[in-house]
Amino acid sequence: MLILGLESTCDETACAVVKDGTTILSNIVASQVNLHQIFGGVVPELACRRHIETILPVISEALSTASVNLNEIDLFAVAKGPGLIGALLIGLNVAKGLSLATEKPFIGVNHIEAHLYAALMSQTTAIQFPCIGAVLSGGHTTLVKMENIGIYSLIGETVDDAIGEAFDKTAKLLGLPYPGGPYIEELASRGDPDRFSFKAGRVKGKPYHFSFSGLKTGVLYAIKGQDGRQEKLLDDQDKRDLAASFQETAFGDVTEKIIKAAKEYECRSIVLGGGVTANQKLRTLVTEAALGLTVHWPSFKLSMDNAAMIAGLGYHQFLLQGKGDPLDLEALSGLEMSYAR
Ligand code: KG4
Ligand code: ZN
Repeated sequence: MLILGLESTCDETACAVVKDGTTILSNIVASQVNLHQIFGGVVPELACRRHIETILPVISEALSTASVNLNEIDLFAVAKGPGLIGALLIGLNVAKGLSLATEKPFIGVNHIEAHLYAALMSQTTAIQFPCIGAVLSGGHTTLVKMENIGIYSLIGETVDDAIGEAFDKTAKLLGLPYPGGPYIEELASRGDPDRFSFKAGRVKGKPYHFSFSGLKTGVLYAIKGQDGRQEKLLDDQDKRDLAASFQETAFGDVTEKIIKAAKEYECRSIVLGGGVTANQKLRTLVTEAALGLTVHWPSFKLSMDNAAMIAGLGYHQFLLQGKGDPLDLEALSGLEMSYAR
């Protein structure tokens, strides 16, 4: 079965052709980072306009790279949420149009669930379910118990900033470009993680929930003083140490909760996904702490927003549903993961 996946939730316009949910024939991502960088974050209106201009050329490139004709596609899969509503509508309506024109089904998938699937799609060995799933991205910090693909129960989530957002805000405070994650990682690799003592938040009565807003305020105080006004003069080494201390605190918290959850929920494996999992330091910390557990990571390209994960998950969802979605399917900017009861 050939699936064409579309992703337009935020600032990447992406299209991929995937065979049977696992074999990636093409995976084209047109990033809008340069467009938004001068504003220090994603500007929704500009993102939508760029998606409109880019989506058809990206689809053509994905088809030609895969050496596949549009008429050979069996299923169109598209991210229906969560994300920027205007951006979502473009991918969703293009998928509906392709489905109508070719008389093939289309299916809407959840972008967060697809981030978890990204680590599984290249697996050659069987996955040991149940496992702990951790989505660490610019919009989400979510821990789930995963009974199988499509069957999750919520263990914990952030009550304020997502972890990637905390990286982006810290980077902004340090005068680094958007998105800040890779810049923080690079600075931190040359810094002392013990220099500043920051704390990740705890949520009363919810041991697996996350809170990163206090950590972000800690960084602000370290840079601008307690009143947030006084511009402290940080030299280059101070900045490296600050980035390293921030990163260590955020990842220490995430690692501890993932490992604790794996024990409490009797899971033998861990699946991670989302842009923050591109970070090598995170990979080292989790892998070192996960003694006796199997850890599944996405490849670098699949950790960032992409359409291969959308096509891959769309395949499984289509098999489970036994049919495609109706043409009146709506995009949902605040779509949550669906949890089993
Ligand atoms: O999954 P993603 O591409 O988009 C969302 O669905 O949000 O994640 C983007 C986030 C951004 O916040 C970015 O700063 C972060 O992933 N990120 C990183 C790294 N690369 C990207 N965070 C830490 N270290 C990195 N190397
Ligand atoms: Zn994402």
